[in-house]
Amino acid sequence: MKIAVLPGDGIGTEIVAEAVKVLNVLGLPLEMESALVGGAAFEAHGHPLPESTLKLAMDADAVLFGAVGDWKYDKLDRPLRPEQAILGLRKNLGLFANFRPAICYEQLVGASSLKPELISGLDILIIRELTGDIYFGQPRGRRIATDGHFPGAEEAYDTMRYSKPEIERIAHVAFQAARKRKAMGKEGRVTSVDKANVLETFQFWKDVVSEVGLQYPDVELDHMYVDNAAMQLVKAPKRFDVVVTGNMFGDILSDEASMLTGSIGMLPSASLNASNQGLYEPSHGSAPDIAGKGIANPLATILSAAMMLRFSLNQEASAQRIEAAVQKVLAQGLRTADIYSEGTTRVSTREMGDAVVKAL
Ligand code: IPM
Ligand code: MG
Repeated sequence: MKIAVLPGDGIGTEIVAEAVKVLNVLGLPLEMESALVGGAAFEAHGHPLPESTLKLAMDADAVLFGAVGDWKYDKLDRPLRPEQAILGLRKNLGLFANFRPAICYEQLVGASSLKPELISGLDILIIRELTGDIYFGQPRGRRIATDGHFPGAEEAYDTMRYSKPEIERIAHVAFQAARKRKAMGKEGRVTSVDKANVLETFQFWKDVVSEVGLQYPDVELDHMYVDNAAMQLVKAPKRFDVVVTGNMFGDILSDEASMLTGSIGMLPSASLNASNQGLYEPSHGSAPDIAGKGIANPLATILSAAMMLRFSLNQEASAQRIEAAVQKVLAQGLRTADIYSEGTTRVSTREMGDAVVKAL
């Protein structure tokens, strides 16, 4: 099983190192190869996604990704910014289905900014379309420069678009996920989030999702405007089960949902293509403000490695072992700074990784 390991920038290198440590003790025939990506690749090769890194990712069964980005690259032309690396990987590998679960661990109920009763037992799955929408519109992000140079630009625009097949395939992913959850005793309902009251693209989205829904009479479907969804997520988050939405709204709502659970440092994500090749990364970013301090929470990345074993490498038993080990270290009271509360034991990034290895 070939895994491309792309740590990236900021805390990316620290957290990925812990996930690799965990993968190495499972006794599986894993072939891991690392490469630079994002700002780190720009420094070394002048491009955030060098050909060699892209090839390594495309030839692998799965990609374990850290995070990219740093404020120091904000002045670079857009195609050279670190963020283009993750967008390029998503597009080139066709990773259209992004799974971002927001699960509240019972031991961390107190770490959320919401009242415990609102989030205790929370288990929602945000499915974000990842290769379309305004992120990849045509023409893409062209600024209308009056003098050939952007600072003097008079206008800027991006275009929002979705094709029918793009909406259909992500809708199928959502309905099938809901069906699976139902079989596991969860609610198994789909909420499609749109802005059909204002945007043509999202009236179309709503129509197509409804049409696909007819093929899943056993799965309940409802529709919600994105502004209301943002409100409901903090008012009554447990009313959601599976949420399916476009790239842009999914970006925003998944950050919001992750924080309900106490820390974005706990949440893994998976981005899959049609042949289950996938990229696995924590839901959080590169956090340059805490990079190099050894305090980042590696659990989101470790749990992303578990998702990788489950979805792309067909190693369900090992995935469950990792998830159980994470539960165990939380039960032992070990906490990185982001989830620390009185009465628990504060540990570093490396100590948390070591504890998971020990639990395994
Ligand atoms: C995410 C990130 C990315 C996105 C950035 C880094 C390009 O915010 O994965 O949610 O906007 O998709
Ligand atoms: Mg985001």
